Amino acid sequence: MCGIVGYVGGDDALPVLLDGMRKLEYRGYDSAGVALVKDGRVELAKKAGHLSELEGELQHLTLDGSLGIGHTRWATHGAPNDINAHPHLDCGGRLAVVHNGIIENHDGIRDELVAAGHAFRSETDTEVAAHLIESILERDGCSLLEAVRRSISVLQGAFALVVISVDEPDRLIVARQESPVIIGVSEEVGLVASGIPALLPFTRDIVPLENGQIAQITPGGYEVFDLKGAAVEPPVVHVEWDMEAAEKGGYEDFMLKEIFEQPEVVQNTILGRVDPSGRIVLDDVHWSADTLGKINKIVVVACGTSYHAGMASKHAIEHWTRLPVELDLASEFRYRDPVLDEHSLVIGIAQSGETADTLAAVRFAKEMGSPVVAVTNVVGSSITRDADAVLFTHAGPEIGVAATKTFLAQLVALNLLSLYLAQERGSMEPEKIAETIVAMNRLPDQVEEVLSIQGEVHRAAKRYADAKDFIFMGRGVGYAVAMEGALKLKEISYIHAEGYAAGELKHGAIALIEEGVPVVALLTGRALYDKMLANVEEVRARGAQTIVLAHQGDERARLLANELFEIPETKPLLSPILDSVPLQLFAYFVAKERGLSPDKPRNLAKSVTVE
Ligand code: F6R
Repeated sequence: MCGIVGYVGGDDALPVLLDGMRKLEYRGYDSAGVALVKDGRVELAKKAGHLSELEGELQHLTLDGSLGIGHTRWATHGAPNDINAHPHLDCGGRLAVVHNGIIENHDGIRDELVAAGHAFRSETDTEVAAHLIESILERDGCSLLEAVRRSISVLQGAFALVVISVDEPDRLIVARQESPVIIGVSEEVGLVASGIPALLPFTRDIVPLENGQIAQITPGGYEVFDLKGAAVEPPVVHVEWDMEAAEKGGYEDFMLKEIFEQPEVVQNTILGRVDPSGRIVLDDVHWSADTLGKINKIVVVACGTSYHAGMASKHAIEHWTRLPVELDLASEFRYRDPVLDEHSLVIGIAQSGETADTLAAVRFAKEMGSPVVAVTNVVGSSITRDADAVLFTHAGPEIGVAATKTFLAQLVALNLLSLYLAQERGSMEPEKIAETIVAMNRLPDQVEEVLSIQGEVHRAAKRYADAKDFIFMGRGVGYAVAMEGALKLKEISYIHAEGYAAGELKHGAIALIEEGVPVVALLTGRALYDKMLANVEEVRARGAQTIVLAHQGDERARLLANELFEIPETKPLLSPILDSVPLQLFAYFVAKERGLSPDKPRNLAKSVTVE
């Protein structure tokens, strides 16, 4: 998500920080900032907007020093403005912190620190780390390294932190929990960054920190410790990547990198949204239980892939809340004279937060007096201003034009929203909600498991890369996955593909089936399994080649499949989160086999700001 750079050495830190931040800017770009230590003071400059805004500001300032940290931000907590930009300082202005990730328990820590007299300046989760470390230093009189070590046993969630202090002006302190951070090995200077591109001008030898590790970096040296403070010696890795490969994390394309980021994205979207008592807490959705109790229908509006996330969520919302759900393409919605009032809750889904049709739909709903909640990946986007409440997906910036990780994050966020509505309206037993949360918490590992079948998916893609037409079919939530699978394939491989509700096939589309037509079938649904199996038999009988997604160990599916993608089992309403992944990989590999660039498909834009 965010970009982090830290430097300590003989030279002026600022040019090194800015150069590194430029190289990481593709990761996050809604604000940027630097902090340098000089003559017993922390000097700070931070600015909303692209890095160029900060660079403009710096021309009017004289900031120097040989110890510094820099940050390019992708906002998660707090709007992308100057104050929320990193670095963040403690009360005394003696230490500065940059952070990538989400500190899940920031609210509780903030309350305690405020009660103890700490004054906060920003709305970020990060600032708690600065004040917490300050309070430990004051209480224990220990070193900065020790204070950071003690602080991370209090912090929960995902974080990479880099901390500097005027009291120890020769070192960077770094801590990692889930979010990546890498030490650059050098004999002259001390370096740390969230991504390899920032380190390449200095070194190709790196030490990626593991979870729970803390490091102290000095000019020409570093020491790494575990959570208990014992020294550890993580291996030094030599990288041969050029700058472009480094930006893509070693993957050939951003799309592939983003598909492989999904375990972390799923985890980040869940993080901080279930309190210790098991209640779902959505910070920016703050209607009273009374208001939510009066809602009598839900209307979901979105375009493209976001619409498919909405399609899947209709099943979860109706099942868990027992409220009827209408689903609309945002481009159709306001032209069909929909029936809306203050009792209709409208959910607008847009990863970019800027899709013209979705914004118009949301504004229309507001004019009709309906409460609107936006589900988006971009803090500060237009939809966040138009909606009454916002649920952010925490996917980080998506560079590939075809939506992948933002889609998975939307599915997760919409499941959380559905469970939240069920919780607030009392339509679901607390034990059932708890059970579903347990299943959601297993998803990051299960997505990882699905990614491990990439070899099988690649082999299948090679076999069918020359096909002219594809049919995808599923039932229930599998229908939404089929629609999304077909969209991914046509967007980046330019092959004609259609998603169908499997039961509908015999009402027309089955006429398209002839010898060799590939049909992708979703067999992971339990309720309609036998019906799906019958649909697969029907297309096979007419000569189709079947690419089947089924649960691990499903022998009946194996008998009917020309290609079998085995998926771990989860709760049926969560299955799109796993089933979509091999279809993203399939579309990606087919595009590559056809010699196309998946990151920049023809005629498409990442954000569709015209009607
Ligand atoms: C598909 C894709 C598009 C978007 C659509 C809506 O891969 O990216 O179909 O899903 O343009 O975009 P957002 O979600 O920004 O409203």
